[in-house]
Amino acid sequence: MLRKQAHVGAFQQQSQRSTPFSYSSTLSVLVSVIFLLGFIFPLTALLNSSSQLSVKRERWHTYTLPEAVRAVARNNTVILCAVSQPYLPFLINWLTSIAKHHRQHGVLVVAEDYATLYAVNEKWPGHAVLIPPAPALQQAHKFGSQGFFNFTSRRPRHLLQILELGYSVLYNDVDMVWLKDPFPYFKGKYDIYFTDDMTQVKSHDHSHKLPPPGKKGRTYICSCMLFIRPTNGGKLILKKWIEELKAQPWSPRAKANDQPAFNWALNKTSDMVKLYLLPQRAFPSGGLYFKNETWRRETQGKHAIIHNNYITGFEKKIKRFRDFDLWFVDDEEMDPTEALVKLRSSE
Ligand SMILES: *[C@@H]1O[C@H](CO)[C@@H](O)[C@H](O)[C@H]1NC(C)=O
Ligand SMILES: *[C@@H]1O[C@H](CO)[C@@H](O)[C@H](O)[C@H]1NC(C)=O
Ligand SMILES: *[C@@H]1O[C@H](CO)[C@@H](O)[C@H](O)[C@H]1NC(C)=O
Ligand SMILES: *[C@@H]1O[C@H](CO)[C@@H](O)[C@H](O)[C@H]1NC(C)=O
Repeated sequence: MLRKQAHVGAFQQQSQRSTPFSYSSTLSVLVSVIFLLGFIFPLTALLNSSSQLSVKRERWHTYTLPEAVRAVARNNTVILCAVSQPYLPFLINWLTSIAKHHRQHGVLVVAEDYATLYAVNEKWPGHAVLIPPAPALQQAHKFGSQGFFNFTSRRPRHLLQILELGYSVLYNDVDMVWLKDPFPYFKGKYDIYFTDDMTQVKSHDHSHKLPPPGKKGRTYICSCMLFIRPTNGGKLILKKWIEELKAQPWSPRAKANDQPAFNWALNKTSDMVKLYLLPQRAFPSGGLYFKNETWRRETQGKHAIIHNNYITGFEKKIKRFRDFDLWFVDDEEMDPTEALVKLRSSE
C-alpha cells in the first residue's frame, strides 16, 4: 500500500509540472498512462505482494530452533508450547493469560504444521518455529492414537535441544491459563519442576519430593507443565525420557501418550536429578480444580496455572473455560490470530 501511494504521489507531481506545455498531447499521454497504470498497477501490486509473501514464508520455512530461541528468550529462558492449527484458539487464550503477567515476549510456539507457522509469524514475527518433519496431521489429534503418541514424543527432544543451547525452558500445554506468574514458584536450584496430575487433595504443606508410585507402579506426574534448567540433571531426565519412549513404543492396547514414559524416567533418575514437585494449591490438575468446588473455594487466590484436562474434546474444553471465566478469546473475531497483533504491540 505504501509503495502504491508513493507512486501515485510522484505521478501527480509530474502531471502538474507538464501542464504548461502542450495541453492536448499531455492529456492524451495522461489518459494512456492512467489506462496503463490502472491495468498494470493491480497486477504488479498483486505479484509484488504474493512474491513478498513467499519471500517471508521462505524465511520462516528455514527458521531454526536455535535461531528462534535466541530471538525470543528473555533472561535466558524460553516459554514453550506446541500447537497445530485446530488449537490456535487455545494458543490465543493461553497467550492472553500470559500477557496479563507480562511474560508473552519469551514465548516460542513450536508449530506442528505450516499453516500455524505462517499464521503466527505473520502476526507476531519470530515467535513460531517448525521443527521438521511436520507430523502427519490428521492422525495427530485423537488422544490415545499412534499419531498422537508420535506427536507428543517429539516434545522431550525439543526440550533437550533447548537445554543444549544453554537456556532454561518452561513447557506448557496450551489448554492452560495463567492466573499468576509461575516463575516465583521455581525456587531453589532444582533441575526440574513439575506438577502432580492426581485429583486427590494434598495437605497445604505437602512434600516437594517425587510422590510414591500409584496403582500402575509409577507416579502420575504431568508432562504438561515442566520447568527445566540447562543443568546435567535437566538434560539427563530428558535423555531418559527419550529412551523410555523408545523402549515402550505405542501399541493399540496400551494407547499411551508420552506421560508414562516421563514418569518411568523420573522413577529411574530420581537419585541423580534434583526434582521438585510444585505446590498443588498453585498448580492443581483439571480433575481437582474443575471438579472439587469445596477445594477450589478453600484455595481461592492461591492458584497460579489452571490446566483444562480430565476432559476431552475442543468444544467441551472451551465450554468449561467459558463457564469458569477463563476464556479470553474474542469469539466475534473470525481470525483468532488478530489478537497476536495486540500482544506484539504491547511488547
Ligand atoms: C532472571 O533470572 C535470574 C536467575 O535465574 C532470576 O534470579 C531472576 O529472578 C530472573 N528475572 C526475571 C525477571 O524473571
Ligand atoms: C508413528 O511413528 C512410527 C515410528 O516412527 C511410524 O512408523 C508410524 O507410521 C507413525 N504413525 C503415525 C500415525 O504418525
Ligand atoms: C520406582 O518404581 C518402582 C516400581 O513401582 C518402585 O518400587 C520404586 O519405589 C520407585 N522408585 C521411586 C524413587 O519412586
Ligand atoms: C474436595 O475437597 C475437599 C476440601 O479440600 C476435600 O475435603 C474432599 O475430600 C475433596 N473431595 C474429593 C472427592 O476429593
